[in-house]
This record gives sequence, C-alpha cells and structure tokens, in this order.
Amino acid sequence: MTKVLLTGGAGFIGSHTCLALLESGHQVVVIDDFSNGSAEALGRVAELAGLGPWRQTSAERWSGAEPGGSRLTLFRGDVRSSTDLDRAFEAADLGGGISAVLHFAGLKAVGESMAQPLRYWDVNVTGTVRLLEAMGRHGCQTLVFSSSATLYGTTDTVPIPETAPLQPINPYGYTKAAVERMLTDVAASAPGWRIALLRYFNPVGAHPSGRIGEDPNGRPNNLFPFLCQVASGRRQHLEVFGGDWPTGDGTGVRDYLHVMDLAEGHGRALDVLQAEPPQLLTLNLGSGQGHSVLELLRTFETTNGLTLPYTVVERRPGDSAVSVADPSQAERRMGWRTRRSLAEICRDGWAWQSANPQGYSTNKPQHTPELIGTQHGS
Ligand code: UD1
Repeated sequence: MTKVLLTGGAGFIGSHTCLALLESGHQVVVIDDFSNGSAEALGRVAELAGLGPWRQTSAERWSGAEPGGSRLTLFRGDVRSSTDLDRAFEAADLGGGISAVLHFAGLKAVGESMAQPLRYWDVNVTGTVRLLEAMGRHGCQTLVFSSSATLYGTTDTVPIPETAPLQPINPYGYTKAAVERMLTDVAASAPGWRIALLRYFNPVGAHPSGRIGEDPNGRPNNLFPFLCQVASGRRQHLEVFGGDWPTGDGTGVRDYLHVMDLAEGHGRALDVLQAEPPQLLTLNLGSGQGHSVLELLRTFETTNGLTLPYTVVERRPGDSAVSVADPSQAERRMGWRTRRSLAEICRDGWAWQSANPQGYSTNKPQHTPELIGTQHGS
C-alpha cells in the first residue's frame, strides 16, 4: 500500500481522485483550505470507500475510522504554509511517510485571475514552491501536477498534441506554465525526481452515486456546472457564448471527459511513475472527441428527459473555437483512455446536481416556510 498526499483533495477533481486511490488500496492524506472544497466532500468519499464513520478529531483534522486504522486523513491547511504542510507530512511520517504527492490545490477561474493576478501567482506558484520545499524536507520526490489545456491558448491545431507550442493568454494560464517550467527545472536539478504534468481538457460529470460532484463557489464560470444549475432551476437559462464560431453548428467545441476517467488517469500516472525509472512525463488527459455546446446541451436533455432554456449571446473574450486533445501519448505511456461517454457524463452530473441542488452546503431548501414564518412573527 502506498501513502499519498493530495493537496486540494477536498475539491472537485481531488475528491474523485481520492476515492479512486482509496479503491485501489492507497492510504490518502489530504490538505485543503476549503476555499473551493469541503470536509463534507471527503466524508462522502470515506462513506463511498466503506471506511466507516468520518470524524473530526481536532480543529484541523478529520479521519475515517476503519478496522486496522484510518486510510483517509484530512487536514485543514494552506499549501503556502510550511507549517501546515509539515503537519500533514509528519502525521504520515509515523507510519512510513508519504511516497507521492498529487498537487490539485490551486485557483482556476480565468476572469478572476485577470482581476487578481497576484493572488493567482501566490497560490498557484508560491504554493508549489512551498510544497516542493516540504517534499525536500520529507524525502519525497514523486509528484503528479494538475496542469491544464489552457496552456495551449487559442490554437487552431486539432487535435492538440503535447508538443504544441505553449501560449497561455491569461494570468491563470501563465501560472500553470510557470509551474510546469519550475517542475522541469527541479526534475533536471537532481536525480530521482518522478514528475507527471497532466494537462486536463474539460473534466465534467460526477461519481455515478450522486454523492460527490462539482460544487462551484457562486456563479459557475464553466459550461457543465452552469447547465446543471439551469436544469435544477437554480439558474434561469444558459447563455451560449457565440453562435458564429467556425464549427459545425457555430458553437464552441471542447473535449469533455468524465471526472472518474480523469481520476483513474491519476492512478495510472502514479503507477507508471512508481514503476519506471525517474522521469518527467507530460501528458494530455482528454477523450480525443470534440462536442459543441449545443451537442452537450442536447445530450443532457435527451439523457435526463429535460428541456433547458438557452439564448445565444456574444462570444466570451479569450475563448477559442475548438479545443480537443490528442490523448494518444496517455494511452501509449500508461495504457489510459477515457471509457465513459458524453451521455454517462450527463447522467452522472445530473444525479449529483438533482440530489444536491445546493451542493455540499446544505441539502435543504434555502428558506423553509417555517423559518420564514418564525422570522416574520418575531
Ligand atoms: C475554461 C477556461 C480554461 C480553464 C477551464 C477550467 C476560459 C477561456 N477558459 O475552459 O482556461 O482551464 O475553464 O476551469 O475561460 N460556454 C457557454 N456558456 C457558459 C459557459 C461556457 O456557452 O455559460 C461555452 C464556452 O464558450 C466554451 C464551452 O462552453 O465554448 C466550454 O466552456 P468552459 O466550460 O468555460 O471551459 P473552457 O472555456 O474550455
């Protein structure tokens, strides 16, 4: 059994990957500041993995109990804090130490990154520097990094191989490029580093149980969570950003992949890094299939028996017509390819959203008649 540390493991992709790693026998330690994740998400991961009761054992720590000791421990902490990172590493040092880190913690909203660039450089880049320093102190040299297809910018290349030029066009993308560069330098600086840079295309959907899924803060920036919130009545209608792109139906084409396929990709990357000699591995994770906004909308409607209102509006600045992965290297290097269809993505995403209309915060309606009555009467 391998003991792994997940930074940002209580967020969308981290929580699904946490479950996949527990199911393949790993012991998992998570550090997350809950800025875009929650202890509740990991409680549900513990439940899905059959780890027994999930308990808060101190102000900053939660764990799942199971016979033979906990296989999942969560620390509230910030990746920019060496103290917080050491706490997570030291808890694991007792039983043999962390053998690999999966680094999900980071900020990812393009518009926000343009308004608050320093925050993005601080969390995404300084956070990674602090993490690498902590890995040095604790003798860990294996890292899987959450990179992004955003690095390719607005390219016309279809599909996009890993060798395509990197030309990010916003601060969020610059920070991802900077971290890739930093990790390349680190890998070259000393023998023994095993690093995977995983460039995600568009991860969407949810675990098929409907117990865990994406729970964005505020108004979703991305298409799929927005679509889900329109379906649940939380948003009135979808705005389709541009109907005049040079694509089959005029709407933007993207490579959507099921988050459980992505989660399994992380497990494969870890296996490959640990089995092979030290290396720096750079891989696209996508399906290789492009779907337009309207295709996704229609598939969501057909799969779930719903009709969703939408209007076509102006293009969103910074968007490109088509972004589709060439995922052949991931298949060649680690035997990974997506297995789940667009219909499964839509089915599972809706299972999550319909069972959790307010995400993890509460499953209750925001205003119960009784509560409103009490307030008026007081
Ligand atoms: C976006 C970011 C990307 C980031 C990724 C994950 C931009 C330009 N790109 O990718 O850098 O890595 O999210 O956070 O912001 N769409 C609509 N209506 C909506 C939302 C989206 O029509 O309300 C369209 C977009 O124009 C696009 C497609 O849906 O054609 C997918 O958009 P989105 O889910 O935001 O993903 P990306 O733009 O690919």
